[in-house]
Amino acid sequence: MLAGKRLLLIIGGGIAAYKALDLIRRLRARGAAVTPVLTRAGSEFVTPLSVAALAGEKVFTDLFDLTDEAEMGHIQLSRSADLVVVAPATADLMAKMAHGHANDLASTLLMATDTPVLLAPAMNVRMWDHPATQRNLATLLGDGLRVVGPNAGDMACGEYGPGRMAEPLEIVAAIEAALGQGPLTGKRVLVTSGPTHEPIDPVRYIANRSSGAQGTAIARALAALGAQVVFITGPADVPPPPGVQVVPVETARQMQQAVEAALPVDAAIFAAAVADWRVASASGSKIKKDASRLPVLEFVENPDILAGVSQHATLRPALVVGFAAETDDVIAHAQAKRARKGCDWIVANDVSPSTGIMGGAENAVHLITPEGCEDWPRMSKQAVADKLAARIAAALTAP
Ligand code: CTP
Repeated sequence: MLAGKRLLLIIGGGIAAYKALDLIRRLRARGAAVTPVLTRAGSEFVTPLSVAALAGEKVFTDLFDLTDEAEMGHIQLSRSADLVVVAPATADLMAKMAHGHANDLASTLLMATDTPVLLAPAMNVRMWDHPATQRNLATLLGDGLRVVGPNAGDMACGEYGPGRMAEPLEIVAAIEAALGQGPLTGKRVLVTSGPTHEPIDPVRYIANRSSGAQGTAIARALAALGAQVVFITGPADVPPPPGVQVVPVETARQMQQAVEAALPVDAAIFAAAVADWRVASASGSKIKKDASRLPVLEFVENPDILAGVSQHATLRPALVVGFAAETDDVIAHAQAKRARKGCDWIVANDVSPSTGIMGGAENAVHLITPEGCEDWPRMSKQAVADKLAARIAAALTAP
């Protein structure tokens, strides 16, 4: 609930501005008061009248409106809220913020405010991926701003990829989290993700097909519920989500060290596809082709990070969740794995190539708990993550 909270909502100029109307409706339904600010470009996409009607308040549109300055100056306007939300946050608005411009009402408010700021970026995928935007994003995160989204998907411009504004309910959850209202606020959660790379020599390594998509989605979902997330990731195909503490690693042993350094945590989610073995003595220099003999690789077992944390003598988290990637007898193997490793839950999935799950956008999982096995229908990896995060929140906050 957001009763008694005042939000300053800056609506930037992008097609996603239409979603800001739904966002206002949902915020007001939760008891929040919304003061809307519409940029000049934003007013090309939604009208001041519809914004004002939904917010039930006057819309601020121009820096040099002398009546507004007499009634409520921009400094006061920027500080009267509990949170400033920018949705959609366009590439241009992000650039202005990162560089400290103050040449219209929105950018001036963002410079003058002493209130936390949450951005919901929305732009064309190439604009999002552009090094300038990514630099600006890093600057803004470094300045302590919070970010929700963008999501990947079909875009209004006909392209596909990250750039779509987060959905209104995701933004509501991020607002609640930013205001310390999320169910996982104050909880520290560790997530491992991605594959590990085990070196053969300085240029070759052994890896697996994990993209890191499921672990990344879980970290994003937990952060959206207010958790402080330590995200320990091997070399993944997808970028880490914003708003989490990222610890990049390469090998299983580095991942183990990073996990141990992150303890204590309230919950630990082991989504990484850790290599079971590493090359016993990786060569320090590149192995050269030798016509007279083929190289022979000898393997040794990697430490089992999940089992180590599940059986930790002093720092075992209250909830430990493992994953089981199987190709046959999925549930039986996963149940045996839960018992063997000593974790609380196992998220089991069938990664046979025919399922298209490994490296794909969807997942079909079974949640194995001490109470039994739940079969979840096939859904997007983000939807699996959101459902799992909600279950984790329920487990951690149960009386
Ligand atoms: N895991 C881990 N450390 C390892 C291997 C696996 O933390 N060295 C974790 C994974 O992150 C996952 C779970 O253990 O949460 C299951 O991994 P999996 O490789 O499927 O299980 P294994 O025990 O290796 O069993 P098998 O390969 O025989 O299926």
